[in-house]
Amino acid sequence: IFEQPSILADTINAYYDAESSELNFSNLTIDFSKITKISIIACGTSYYAAMVAKYWFESFINLPIEVDIASEFRYRDSYLPENGLSIFLSQSGETADTLAAMRYAKQKGQITLSIVNVKESSLDREADFSLQCFAGPEISVASTKGLTTQLTILLLLTLHIAQETNRVSKLEISRKLQLVAEIPGRISEILNNVESVKVIAREVAQARNTIFIGRNYIYPIALEAALKLKELSYIHSEGIAAGELKHGPIALIDENIPIIILAPQNNLFEKTSSNAQEVAARGGKLITISSAEGNASLKNLSKYQINISHSDALIEPIIYAVPMQLLAYYVAVCKGN
Ligand code: F6R
Repeated sequence: IFEQPSILADTINAYYDAESSELNFSNLTIDFSKITKISIIACGTSYYAAMVAKYWFESFINLPIEVDIASEFRYRDSYLPENGLSIFLSQSGETADTLAAMRYAKQKGQITLSIVNVKESSLDREADFSLQCFAGPEISVASTKGLTTQLTILLLLTLHIAQETNRVSKLEISRKLQLVAEIPGRISEILNNVESVKVIAREVAQARNTIFIGRNYIYPIALEAALKLKELSYIHSEGIAAGELKHGPIALIDENIPIIILAPQNNLFEKTSSNAQEVAARGGKLITISSAEGNASLKNLSKYQINISHSDALIEPIIYAVPMQLLAYYVAVCKGN
């Protein structure tokens, strides 16, 4: 977790030359103007990275984008048109379902691109094209720097495809690239202020169930937060799209269940705040993660807060993933796991 600022700087440097302000995907000799559909396929945490990428791709690239879990994709009849691009995400590069899904996509005539951390892994070797994450060895079971390096590459790749297909002006691309360059510093700031996370971890460690909610591109981060917590602390945890809360899950809310609301201060903040009010009305124990200003407006509702400096919506999924990794880690430490 604490390696992320330096590793992400390395990953960014591998695909983006800050001096010339140019992206560097020279090995990716795909004619993106001919691509008809993009599918992104993965398992677990890597799948949540794929889900975030769908939001980015849809914002910048005018193509049908599909994301799927590898173990589902390989057994269904997804529409795979000629000149379709299938992207496979995997930290290890060896996940059996992801590898089988790639072989299936190849059989169906798809162009294949893998994004892997482990060089010379099966997914790296078998794909038509491959990009490396440069996260270094992911020693523990839980993927942390694996996730944030995948997300960073996917964001840079989105901008590369947008540039190659003339969807976004050069000026706009270079503005977005400046935001990407801010990521390591913003993550350092979070890692230098872990006290509030430790306090919350002590509370969450007492719970039997927890719920994480988020909206839009932060929704996959809520799913990832729930996965990381259950994986490390053995506490049951669910990630829910904020707008779905009222369609059933609200029945679970009582004063014993911590509800962690990921509410960056963006154009959907008011919507997420109204979900926070629904939770508070049911007596839920609210923990809000937002900017200082966002948290100030939620102060009367929430029991605990984590402040994250306000940043552009584009990079927020990468930034918000980190306090969720820390929370899972400190809860596991509290429980002696
Ligand atoms: C969760 C975790 C797993 C992996 C999944 C896919 O922390 O590590 O969910 O993300 O098993 O693994 P890779 O990315 O190696 O294909």
